Amino acid sequence: MTPPRRVLYLSPTAQLGGAEHSLLDLAAGLDRRRYEPRLLCLGDGPLLGAALGRGVDATIVTTPAAFARTSLRGSRTAVARLLGSTVRALPTFVAIRRAARRLAPALVHSNGNKTHLLSAPLALAGRLVVWHVRDFLPDRRPERLLVRLANAAVAALVANSSAVAAHLVRLGARPALVHAIPNGIDVSRFDPDGPRADLRAAFGWPEPTRVVGMVGVLARWKGQEVFLRAAREIAGRTRDVRFVVVGGEIYQTSGHGDFAAALRRLARELELDGVVAFAGHRDDVPEVLRALDVVVHASTEPEPFGRVIAEAMACARPVVWARGGGADEIVGATGLAALGVERGNPAALAAAIARALAEPDAARRWAREGRVRIAERFDIDRHVERIQELYASLTGSGG
Ligand code: GLC
Repeated sequence: MTPPRRVLYLSPTAQLGGAEHSLLDLAAGLDRRRYEPRLLCLGDGPLLGAALGRGVDATIVTTPAAFARTSLRGSRTAVARLLGSTVRALPTFVAIRRAARRLAPALVHSNGNKTHLLSAPLALAGRLVVWHVRDFLPDRRPERLLVRLANAAVAALVANSSAVAAHLVRLGARPALVHAIPNGIDVSRFDPDGPRADLRAAFGWPEPTRVVGMVGVLARWKGQEVFLRAAREIAGRTRDVRFVVVGGEIYQTSGHGDFAAALRRLARELELDGVVAFAGHRDDVPEVLRALDVVVHASTEPEPFGRVIAEAMACARPVVWARGGGADEIVGATGLAALGVERGNPAALAAAIARALAEPDAARRWAREGRVRIAERFDIDRHVERIQELYASLTGSGG
């Protein structure tokens, strides 16, 4: 029997957002008789312990602060600065190359733009490198360059939705290189039945309060501001609804920072004291989702995938969601389509939340359809299988 082939995963961060949870589910889910995962993170953080806890060998490489703050998302990073900080990341690149030599992986699988860039020289030197693209890359010079680099050197581009895949092709990626493989959800962990977080007790809310919540990284484009404005509209009409914002400001890239404080200020300005609570980062996401009467997704930009929508659906929660990108693909033609709203529109968001609250029977029915859809089409096992099929086709090791 051939020994398992090693896969070296590269993560640009050791924080735990959707991209990292998805990577971890994949790495931990690999068939160990065939593949042996190793994880290398740029910088320290909770991903490291989480990986080790799930049997994935993980180490860190340090990275200069200026490079850690660089982000390709949106227009936050000017080309010149990106190049400048890339040069400063040379020691990081050397550390990655050394790790690749030592571990001799059959494949390198990069999970974000920065490690895409840093793995390109390995690809050019002949190593099998896969880039997992989890963002809509802006249509600008540095990103088009990145795509050209991929065409020249990378073995495969995995996109986390068909929308991201189509966007990559629009940016110039060779269609044959691009594989749309949606994320998978562990539907036994994200299950409708199971313990619920006691949010009412935590925030001193009266029974019987209905709770509407947003779960996810605190970032401008995730739309927590839109959510607060929608909460304002609903709170003006109904007294027994409370709102909770769950999530931390975990990414340290430029364009992030001070957003949590700005949100709290906005909540005060909107006179939402006692109506909105900020729960911070939570590790018990299934418990939190199960405690919510309505889950809200409010991204103001098209969502590349939208993991929280799938997690909430797996827990059979009614989800109000912002249309576009991967979100449309997750929800599909389930009854939850009725709760899809225009992005960045607080009034539309408030109307959909109000509808979910006013029609609990319909909302429950739609939510059950959501659970079925995730279990049938977005199960983590299916995701791992598809990635392993891709690995097999790239390494030429059969099925
Ligand atoms: C990124 C995307 C998000 C997706 C996650 C997992 O964080 O922004 O849409 O759910 O990656 O692929």
